[in-house]
Amino acid sequence: MIFPNTIEKSYFIPITFGIHKGLFMEKLVVTGGCGFIGSNFIRMILEKEPTVEVINFDLLTYAGNLANLKDLEKNPRLKFFKGDIANKQDVDAVLKDGVSSVVHFAAESHVDRSILDSGPFIRSNIVGTQVLLDSARAHNIKRFVHVSTDEVYGSLGDTGFFTEDTPLAPNSPYSASKASSDLIVRSYVHTFGFPAMTTRCSNNYGPYQFPEKLIPLFISNLQRNEQVPVYGDGLNVRDWIHVNDHCSGILAVLRKGRVGEVYNLGGKSERTNLELTHALLNNLQKPHSLIRYVKDRPGHDKRYAIDCSKAEKELGWTPTVIFEEGLKHTVEWYLANTDWINSIRTGDYLSYYQKQYGHR
Ligand code: NAD
Ligand code: DAU
Repeated sequence: MIFPNTIEKSYFIPITFGIHKGLFMEKLVVTGGCGFIGSNFIRMILEKEPTVEVINFDLLTYAGNLANLKDLEKNPRLKFFKGDIANKQDVDAVLKDGVSSVVHFAAESHVDRSILDSGPFIRSNIVGTQVLLDSARAHNIKRFVHVSTDEVYGSLGDTGFFTEDTPLAPNSPYSASKASSDLIVRSYVHTFGFPAMTTRCSNNYGPYQFPEKLIPLFISNLQRNEQVPVYGDGLNVRDWIHVNDHCSGILAVLRKGRVGEVYNLGGKSERTNLELTHALLNNLQKPHSLIRYVKDRPGHDKRYAIDCSKAEKELGWTPTVIFEEGLKHTVEWYLANTDWINSIRTGDYLSYYQKQYGHR
């Protein structure tokens, strides 16, 4: 797709923003803005903050999709730069030009893919974060939000919650790569006084999520009357948060978070995978016989649950979307956007699906 605001990958073309309608414009780089959460975040910040101009820096991996921002393709306050966070030249080219803040989403994000091949996770999530941080330091970035995950804390038993003081105990190559990046961020704050904050959020759901993750995968299978693959006994628990609540939490951290701090963000909506699957079947009015129990995910974390009281007290943020309502709207969105999902469910996706589920 042609995206009119694309900046050619030439290191000589300046990214010019500046004064607009008499207002000083803040330049914000969003990494991974063509992914699920990044695209929702860009939509939110452009709507809420008229003096922000966004440079969306994204490699367009299998998970990056310009169609996620199609509605904004003519927005003069949004530019796109195709680049790799692990490539210093790419990163310097974007950060050199009066950028004041960075929100860092770009990552390999799917646990199952990290089990099939951890290489891209180490490269993008660890090396990419280090390259980005070095460039951000060199270019005197004033605020840097590192978007991380509750999975860095490992797994809980039947009770208790992750707090920001819970020791890191990642269990998958994905979460280990995210925990590594968190520690690199921490070290840059401590050693160099670098102005970073880290967020650790629970499981997101909502529009534009790549259909490898449970909710969009199950919705798109059920639309086709195909079975849904539940890992193990289906009793693993996740704390679900609507992507808009996650994005408003990140925005609150960007504007009000204290440098060096970690903020947990969560949805206060714990559900077993089976409870969630039944809710999806009911929403789509499909028979429960479409559940197929498959071999468990290796090292499958049992339960995640977030204590987000620090963000609530310090930032005045709280999740607002009621899970049942958010889920209903999410199902409606996927039903109304079959073109979006059909364009993904082709070649590479089908090969991945076969590799991941064919043998189970
Ligand atoms: P996603 O997989 O949907 O999107 C990732 C984006 O990053 C894609 O657009 C991809 O092209 C881009 N990208 C990947 N490697 C890159 C590289 N080397 N250089 C530039 N761009 C690159 O992911 P998501 O679900 O939107 O997650 C975004 C961030 O939020 C990740 O850091 C993830 O760890 C974190 N997070 C996700 C969740 C969740 O439930 N999805 C929860 C908590 C935290
Ligand atoms: O907790 C935050 C994390 O949430 C993020 O850091 C990750 O980027 C994001 O992918 C998500 O990780 P999970 O592994 O929890 O999400 P996923 O949607 O892959 O799986 C949710 C649960 O559903 C988990 O217990 C595994 C299970 N599952 C998943 C798939 C894809 C199934 O039972 N069947 C499936 O086919």
